[in-house]
Amino acid sequence: MNKFPNDFLWGASTSAYQIEGCINEGGKVSSTMDIYGDKPNYPKGITGFKEASEHYKYWKTDVEMMAKMKLKSYRFSISWPRIIKNENGDVNQEGIKFYNDLIDELLKHKIEPVVTMFHFDIPLFVMEDGGVHGKNFVKHFELYAEILLKHFGSKINYWLTINELNILVMMADGFELLEKKDFSNQLKVLHNLNLAQAKAIIKCKEMCPKAKIGPAPNISTVYANTCKPEDYTAKLNIDLIRNWVYLDAVCKGGYSNVFMSTVKKMGINFEVSKEDLEILAKGKPDFIAFNYYSTSTAQMPTKEMIKNNKEKLDQQKGLVLPGFGMATKNPHLPKTQFGWEIDPVGFRNTLREVYDRYGLPMMITENGIGARDVLTEDGKIHDDYRIEYYQKHIEQMGLAIEDGVEMIGYMPWSAIDLVSTHEGISKRYGFIYVNRDEFDLKDMRRIEKDSYYWYKNLIETNGENI
Ligand code: BG6
Repeated sequence: MNKFPNDFLWGASTSAYQIEGCINEGGKVSSTMDIYGDKPNYPKGITGFKEASEHYKYWKTDVEMMAKMKLKSYRFSISWPRIIKNENGDVNQEGIKFYNDLIDELLKHKIEPVVTMFHFDIPLFVMEDGGVHGKNFVKHFELYAEILLKHFGSKINYWLTINELNILVMMADGFELLEKKDFSNQLKVLHNLNLAQAKAIIKCKEMCPKAKIGPAPNISTVYANTCKPEDYTAKLNIDLIRNWVYLDAVCKGGYSNVFMSTVKKMGINFEVSKEDLEILAKGKPDFIAFNYYSTSTAQMPTKEMIKNNKEKLDQQKGLVLPGFGMATKNPHLPKTQFGWEIDPVGFRNTLREVYDRYGLPMMITENGIGARDVLTEDGKIHDDYRIEYYQKHIEQMGLAIEDGVEMIGYMPWSAIDLVSTHEGISKRYGFIYVNRDEFDLKDMRRIEKDSYYWYKNLIETNGENI
C-alpha cells in the first residue's frame, strides 16, 4: 500500500522577495529586503534582491512550468509591501490584481495555492513606525492579514502566517531589524510576532472558517553532543530557545514555566499581560507547517569554549547561550557545498518529535539543498546531488508516515531558482534553473533541471517511484 495519502500535496516553495524582483513596479513600496543587499554588513560579491528571478514579469511561464512538473501545490508568499501602501493601510490594487491573477492561474492548472502571509519582507513604513519590536507592529500586521483574507480568502484553503518566526527572532540582529543586538529586544520581537500570528489566526477563523491556517517555523531535532548529562541539559535549553517556545506559543497558547524561568535566569524582565495570553490562547492553528534543512547539536559550554568559538551565527549553526548551551558540529553528518549538514534520518526524527508533542497534521514548507548548479554544454543541469538529497529525505518522510505521523504535504525549497537569503543566486535551490549570475542578468531563461523530471515522475507515482 502506498504510504502517501491520495490527496498528498506534493509541491514546491518560494518567497516573494527572493523571486519577484521588479521592486519598483506595480505600486510596490520599499521593504527591508529591498535595501538589505545594500547594507555594509551584507556579504560582498553577491547580489541583493532587486531583480531576483523577475518572477513578477515571468509568473505565467513559471506557473506553466510548475503545471508541467505536475505540482499539486505551490507555496509562495504575498509581498506585504506590494499590498499595503502606507501606515494608514491604504491598499495597492495593482498588488491585489497581481496575486489574484497568480492564484487564478494556479487554480486553472489545479495547483493548490499555499499562501504565506509574511516571509521576511517588512514594509519600510512599518520599520519607521517602530519596527518589529515596536508597539504598533501587531496592529499593522493584523490589518494586513485582514486585507489578505478579504481579497483572497474565497480562493485559499491553506494559509501560513509567518515564515520562520523563530529565525526572525534569533537573527533579528543579522537582518538588521534591531539597532543593537539585545536579548530583551529580541524577546519583544518574539512576543510581537506571536501576537501578530495569533491575531491573523483569529481573523482567519472569523472571516474564512473553511480555510486552514498554521505557523511555518524552522524546526530541527537537537542532539546532545555526548551522553554527558550536562550536554543533555544544553540540548533541552537549545531545543526550548530554538524550537519549542515558538510552537508552544501558538499550539499551547502561551509560554512555558521553563521558558519564563530561563529568561529570568538570564536576567531579563519579560512580562506577559493577561490580555495577551488570552489572545495567544485563542489563536490556535489547524496544522503545523515547518521548514527543515538539518538538525542541530548542543553541548554545555565552558567559558573557554565560548571565547574560542569562531562560528558565525546562522540558522544552521545556531546559538551560543553562556551557561545554557552552545551549538556545535555533528561529525557524523556530510555537508553541502555551503557547509550545511545533511541529515535525512534527523528529518524523520524531527517529524516524529513535532507530531508527538502537538498532535496536529503537518506539512513541510521548505527542505532542500543549496548548490552551485552548472549549466553544461548540452544546455542541461545535471543535479544528481539534489535528486539524491530528496530521495533520502522523502524516504525518511515515508518512514515517519509509517511511524504514524500525519502529513498533509511536502513543498521543498524551491520551485525555481531564487536569491538565497544570505548567499546570493549562486546558491541555487530550484527544480527550474534561472539563467542569470550574481550581477549579469543574462536572459533569465528558465530551464528544467534533471531534478525537475525526477520530481515530476515521483509526483505522478504519488511517491512510489523514488
Ligand atoms: C529559510 C528561509 O530560512 O531558508 C528561506 O525561509 C531561505 O527564505 C532558506 O532562502 C535557505 O536559506 P539560505 O540562506 O540558503 O537562502
